[in-house]
Amino acid sequence: MTEPVLVVAGAVLDGHRMLLAQRDYPEAVAGLWELPGGKVESGESPDQALVRELCEELDVEVSVGAALRDVVSPTDSLTLVAMRAEIVSGTPRAVEHRALRWVDGTELAHLVRDGALVPNDLGWAHEMIAELQVR
Ligand code: CDP
Repeated sequence: MTEPVLVVAGAVLDGHRMLLAQRDYPEAVAGLWELPGGKVESGESPDQALVRELCEELDVEVSVGAALRDVVSPTDSLTLVAMRAEIVSGTPRAVEHRALRWVDGTELAHLVRDGALVPNDLGWAHEMIAELQVR
């Protein structure tokens, strides 16, 4: 049996806000918001993959912190892990996404309510909303 593809996503935090990125493709999720990230490549640790992905996608350097509790497995062939991250250098810009935005817990809850988050990332929403509201 082949191993599932491992995707790492960044819960990029700044005070009481988190960074979301708006997907531009594929059609099914275009316009929806996600935690930026991507596939771990062979020979990389999840932390290294997240540093690389956020450099490619946001043009920033991050330091990676603890993983969120819930691992998301939408199919047998895909596993997603989210890790907290903080920007140590640069200002994020949408290199591969349609747009970026910083949200607080209330705004994140509204995006969830409105169906504006990519479905896979809903697995992290409650933990992030709770954390953002006490930061
Ligand atoms: O950049 P790369 O091609 O490695 O990754 P991607 O295409 O952005 O993401 C790989 C897979 O993970 C796709 O199926 C995305 O839809 C999924 N993904 C997700 O569900 N939630 C995220 N926050 C990031 C990626």
